[in-house]
Amino acid sequence: HFQVMMLLLMLMLSVVSLAHNFCYDEEHCDPYAWGDNYPSCHPLLESHHSPINLDHQLMKNQSLDSLHLEGFNLTLKGQWWLTNQGHSVVLELGNGMQVSGGGLPGTYRTIQLHFHWGSVSSNGSEHTLDHLRFPMEMHIVNIKSTHPNLTSALEDPTGLAVKSKSFHFLVGQTKSIRPFPLMNLLPQNNLTQYYRYHGSLTTPPCSQVVLWTVYEVPTYISWAQLFVKRIYSTEELADKQVHLQNNYRHIHPTYGRPVYASKDAKMLTNGVSPLAIFYLFNVLLFIGFLNI
Ligand SMILES: *[C@@H]1O[C@H](CO)[C@@H](O)[C@H](O)[C@H]1NC(C)=O
Ligand SMILES: *[C@@H]1O[C@H](CO)[C@@H](O)[C@H](O)[C@H]1NC(C)=O
Ligand SMILES: *[C@@H]1O[C@H](CO)[C@@H](O)[C@H](O)[C@H]1NC(C)=O
Ligand SMILES: *[C@@H]1O[C@H](CO)[C@@H](O)[C@H](O)[C@H]1NC(C)=O
Ligand SMILES: *[C@@H]1O[C@H](CO)[C@@H](O)[C@H](O)[C@H]1NC(C)=O
Ligand SMILES: [Zn+2]
Repeated sequence: HFQVMMLLLMLMLSVVSLAHNFCYDEEHCDPYAWGDNYPSCHPLLESHHSPINLDHQLMKNQSLDSLHLEGFNLTLKGQWWLTNQGHSVVLELGNGMQVSGGGLPGTYRTIQLHFHWGSVSSNGSEHTLDHLRFPMEMHIVNIKSTHPNLTSALEDPTGLAVKSKSFHFLVGQTKSIRPFPLMNLLPQNNLTQYYRYHGSLTTPPCSQVVLWTVYEVPTYISWAQLFVKRIYSTEELADKQVHLQNNYRHIHPTYGRPVYASKDAKMLTNGVSPLAIFYLFNVLLFIGFLNI
């Protein structure tokens, strides 16, 4: 098991196109080049980029109380779909979960979650806490419930079936997952401790439409080390299979944006000790199993 930074993205628009011509590891299409094809990813043209480093600049905001997480406690009916989209592994969550409260301007429907990670022995979170990267970051994506259409855009109509019994998970492949209470993936005892800021998608088109909620207390989730090792960024017929890893964007300046800490947040960023850092990187050796 290892520690994961937990975040909730609140998308304020439904206009999120699925961009595919970008990458993380080749110079011509890596995160520093995204702005060539996607002007809104250009760091000098837009000032609300994500991810950011979270540090001592946090401002306590007493109106940020607990989020209302509806349905996160339940074992929902039906199936969820886990898909390798090439840039990440995405779990489509179907209907039944929504988020409100905690200073959010409305109710948001929870539609999917996905992950950002490093290479097996390295770090992979997108946001950093006092410049410390965590091994992995999970994004739970929520959209304004008045925009029901991102789900249908993301849904895979064919299911694509599970193509092979091997663990090799190639681009376009999908596996069905039995729903489980999403609460199991969250820092259940510390949900009222979080940070809030206005930022962007961390993948093209980098739309500046995201209200980020970053849980202050990292959590342990189960994740198969084998699974992470065997996710590929290549398609089935490719000559050479390439691992999907290091799918995180670099840190952006806040440019004076307020970053709030919730009423109950403890501003733990002041207290990250070298020992904690050592521990965080060591836990990578003890990765468990994702529920697949
Ligand atoms: C989860 O559900 C239980 C009841 O089944 C409830 O008491 C508890 O408050 C819920 N937890 C959260 C965080 O919603
Ligand atoms: C606290 O957060 C709310 C909701 O995000 C925001 O509207 C308000 O301006 C913030 N308060 C202060 C004092 O910054
Ligand atoms: C994490 O990444 C940073 C650069 O982003 C690097 O300096 C550091 O050595 C990495 N740590 C580990 C344990 O890989
Ligand atoms: C969702 O989008 C599809 C086309 O992409 C459209 O046919 C449908 O009416 C939309 N549904 C809603 C609820 O907006
Ligand atoms: C998490 O919440 C528990 C219960 O409120 C509290 O005792 C603990 O200090 C919190 N953990 C952190 C790291 O803040
Ligand atoms: Zn993400």
